Amino acid sequence: MDKNKLIEVKDLNKTFIIGGRFFGSKLVAVNKANLVMQQGKPEIFTLAGESGSGKTTLARMILGIIEPTSGHIYYKGKDVTRLRGKKEREWFKKEVQPIFQNPFEAFNPLKRVETYLFETALNFGIAKNKNEASDIVDEALKSVGLSLSEVYQRYPHELSGGQVQRTCIARALITRPSLLIADEPVSMVDASLRMSILNFFHKLKTDYGVSIIYITHDLATAYYVSDRIAIMYRGYIVELGPIEKVLTNPLHPYTQLLLDSIPKPDPDRRWNKRIKLADIEVKEYMALGCKFANRCKYATERCFKEEPYDVEIDGRKVKCFLYSDKEVSTTL
Ligand SMILES: Nc1ncnc2c1ncn2[C@@H]1O[C@H](COP(=O)(O)OP(=O)(O)O)[C@@H](O)[C@H]1O
Ligand SMILES: [Mg+2]
Repeated sequence: MDKNKLIEVKDLNKTFIIGGRFFGSKLVAVNKANLVMQQGKPEIFTLAGESGSGKTTLARMILGIIEPTSGHIYYKGKDVTRLRGKKEREWFKKEVQPIFQNPFEAFNPLKRVETYLFETALNFGIAKNKNEASDIVDEALKSVGLSLSEVYQRYPHELSGGQVQRTCIARALITRPSLLIADEPVSMVDASLRMSILNFFHKLKTDYGVSIIYITHDLATAYYVSDRIAIMYRGYIVELGPIEKVLTNPLHPYTQLLLDSIPKPDPDRRWNKRIKLADIEVKEYMALGCKFANRCKYATERCFKEEPYDVEIDGRKVKCFLYSDKEVSTTL
């Protein structure tokens, strides 16, 4: 626990008990995740991985929406799972704001969108009265290229997907958060708006010192916008480090495989290789050793028996026995 750290995720696990054919089996959606973001060093940190790799589960634990099975999350030195009293919980909600994939889910279709913005400004004590709230709401909307008059008295379905997503971002900004957790925020908007939202994230970081956890399965946009990246595979962070290093010289065989599927990082090109978890045998998920072993061209007998650990190499962490001559625990 350290106050100089904005967020510290320590050995975080989430196990779900699943039903169906493998009824009662355990599915480890997030497995011993570790990551640190520093205070005073705003950055865009990407969490990437194919569908079902555990990105949303990790994000929801950091947001305090679901409880970890074990491990810790510290935000500015405070254990997120043990926030005390209303005051601490409100403080955390103000500081760490979510942006979700489907903006329409964030809004009740029968409620006018500006209501949410006013509620946020008033309930969090950002504005003392409706007049003050109106200025704050307008300012937040202007920062995303909208204005209060444009959304005033409108219901979500009367706005475009892009306008609703920008309204969601504006709402998140009203509390002046230090950390935004954006779970696939641009996957449902068109290409031009996607770039303008990502550029806006960059501006939030550089001009307002906001750190962002950007969740995506699109490596091209990750390359375009982020400083660091963590690649997830079946609940494990298999590689974590500076974006440039990880995407131009991937070390983990899984990262290498992902990058083979896009010719080169290019903001206009989408990474379209998506493997749905439904296609993967749950048994395989529960196998011993490295979860990637049976798809890995370098796998040895050891990979099927032992679980790989983090190795620090070339400024990043890699969970692979290929590099296991240098075992260290790091705070990268
Ligand atoms: N509430 C839940 N109950 C059971 N399994 C879940 C639940 N939430 C997520 N999972 C499973 O955990 C795994 C990781 O899911 P998720 O975090 O949503 O991945 P991602 O966001 O990377 O697509 C998946 O296998 C998913 O089916
Ligand atoms: Mg998800």
